[in-house]
Amino acid sequence: MSIESVFEKEKISLWLNDDIPHDFPILSQEESCGVCVIGAGITGITTAYLLSNMGIDVMLIDSHTPIRLTSGNTTAKFTFQHGLIYSKILKKYGTESARLYYEAEIQAMKIVEKLVKDLEIPCDFKNTYAMIYAENEEDFKEIREEYEAYQKLEIPGELVRELPLGLAGVGGLRVENQFDLHPVKYLSFLLEKLKERKVRIYQQTKAVDITESGESTLIITEGGHTIQCQKAVIATGYPFFDGNGFYFARLAAYRAYLMAIPRPSDGNTDAMLISNSSSPHTMRFIRTNGIDYLIIGGSGHKVGQESSAMDSYLKIIDFARENFHVDDVAFRWSAQDYESLDGIPYIGALTSKHPNILVATGFRKWGMTNGTLSAYLLTQNIAGKITRFDELFKPSRGEVKESLGQVMKENLNVAKELFKGKFTPTHTSLEELGNDEGGIIRHHGKRTGAYRDKKGKLFLFDSTCTHLGCELEYNNAEKSFDCPCHGSRFDHEGQVIEGPALKELKVTEE
Ligand SMILES: Cc1cc2nc3c(=O)[nH]c(=O)nc-3n(C[C@H](O)[C@H](O)[C@H](O)COP(=O)(O)OP(=O)(O)OC[C@H]3O[C@@H](n4cnc5c(N)ncnc54)[C@H](O)[C@@H]3O)c2cc1C
Ligand code: FES
Repeated sequence: MSIESVFEKEKISLWLNDDIPHDFPILSQEESCGVCVIGAGITGITTAYLLSNMGIDVMLIDSHTPIRLTSGNTTAKFTFQHGLIYSKILKKYGTESARLYYEAEIQAMKIVEKLVKDLEIPCDFKNTYAMIYAENEEDFKEIREEYEAYQKLEIPGELVRELPLGLAGVGGLRVENQFDLHPVKYLSFLLEKLKERKVRIYQQTKAVDITESGESTLIITEGGHTIQCQKAVIATGYPFFDGNGFYFARLAAYRAYLMAIPRPSDGNTDAMLISNSSSPHTMRFIRTNGIDYLIIGGSGHKVGQESSAMDSYLKIIDFARENFHVDDVAFRWSAQDYESLDGIPYIGALTSKHPNILVATGFRKWGMTNGTLSAYLLTQNIAGKITRFDELFKPSRGEVKESLGQVMKENLNVAKELFKGKFTPTHTSLEELGNDEGGIIRHHGKRTGAYRDKKGKLFLFDSTCTHLGCELEYNNAEKSFDCPCHGSRFDHEGQVIEGPALKELKVTEE
C-alpha cells in the first residue's frame, strides 16, 4: 500500500464505521432531574445506566453525539494491566494502595463482564491474555520490577522470555483472563436500554457552566438553558468546569494513533500486547463483521507538541510491516486521553467544597476499566454509600505533595509552550496553502490559523486558544488546530472538538 493512500482514507475508527443507530434531540427547554450526567462516553453512559438501575431520575447530555469522542476511538482492551502502574503506586503510596488499585480494576472488569452476559450484548466480546513486553534488556529490567510488585501484591502474572507472534523483543509480563470487545456495539446497546427506559438523552447540548444554589445544582448549556438537579456528574474527559480544583495544573493531555489492518484468520488472536518503550506500541486483534483485523497503535505524544502527526501514522505502518508483514490499512484514527499527576484517576467530588458536583477523569489511556470503575464509584457516592476505593481515587487526595517533581515538569512544559507559541516563527504562508491544506501563518502581522477547504474556501482564525491563551499548532493528519498546553482541539471551522476550551476560535478577516 502506498503511504499516500493511507491518508486518502477518511479518518474514522473501525468501531465508528459501524454506525451508531441513535439520534437524540437537542435540549431546547429548561429541565430538572435527580442527577444530570454530562458526557456520553463509556463513563457517562455506564453511570447513567447504573443510576437508572437504581431507580434514580437521571438525564444524559452530550455536546456532540454520544460515543464519538475517546470511547469511540479507543483500543478497547479491558485489563487490570495498566502499563507499569503497580510498581509506581507501590513506591509512591505503599502496598495497600497498590493492591486496592488492582482490586478496583477487577471490580470494573466484573461489571462489564456481567453486563455483557446478563444483557447478552452482541459486542464481539473475547477472553484473552494481556502482556506488557520489552524490546530490549534495559526495558526488561522495569518489567521485572513490575513482576516483583505483582508478587508482593499477590497479582497473578508470569514473567516470560518468549514473545508471541514473532514480535521483536526480549520478554514480557503476561496476565490471563482479560478481555476485549467492540466498544461502539457495547455502548450503543446500553444507550438503547436507556432509551427503552425513557431516560432523557440530549445531544448537541454543551454544558458551559455550573452554579450551586442551596441544595440545587444548576447546569447552564450553550443554548442558554438550565438543568436543575441535585447532583451533576462531569464525565467529559477533561472536566469542562474547574470549580477551583486546578485540574488544568494537574492533568496532561496525550494523543495517540491507531490503525485497523485486515489479516488472515490464523486463530492467533487471543493477545492484547503493549510494549514498554519510550514510545510504546499497542496491539490487539478482532474478528468483526466477518473480517479479522490487527489493531495497532502508538506514536503517542502530548497534544499539540508533535511536528507532524502524519509521521506518527507512518511510524506505526513501519512497525506493522516489520513485525506482522502487513500494511493494508483499512481504518486509521487518533484519540486523546488525560493523565493525572500520580497516574491514578480523579474520581469523586470535584473539590471538597463541591460535594454535589462529581467528576471522573485522568484515565491515562486505561478508561475502559477506569471509566466503568468511575460509574461504579460515583453511583455508590450518589446512593450515599462509602466504598473502600474512595480515598485512593478522591480528586482532593492531595497528590501534589507526593508528585511535586511531576507538577513542576507539567507546569514548566505549559509555561514553555505559552512562551514559545508567541515567538516561534510560522511555517506556512497564505499563498503556499493548497486546497485541503492548513497551517499557522503570519497574516497582517499576526499569528493566524489558516485552512483552505477542498473547494478552495479559506478559513482564518486568531490562533490563540480560547481556554487560557496558549498558541495553537496545526495538526496535519487530522487537519485541526491543537493546543499544546491542556489539549483543546479545534476543527478547520474553528469549532471546539475536545479539551477544556468552551468557545470557538475568533474569525480573522482575509
Ligand atoms: C489511542 C487510545 C487508546 C486507548 N486504548 C484503551 C484501551 O485499550 N483500554 C482502556 O482501558 N482504555 C483505553 N483508552 C482510554 C479510554 O478510551 C478512555 O479513557 C475512555 O474512552 C474515556 O471515556 P470517557 O467517557 O471518560 O470520555 P469520552 O469517551 O471522551 O466521552 C466524553 C464525552 O463528553 C462529551 N463532552 C465533552 N465536553 C462536554 C460538555 N462541555 N458538555 C457536554 N458534553 C461534553 C464529549 O462529546 C464526549 O462524548 C485509550 C485512549 C486512547 C486515546
Ligand atoms: S487548552 Fe488550555 S490554553 Fe489551550
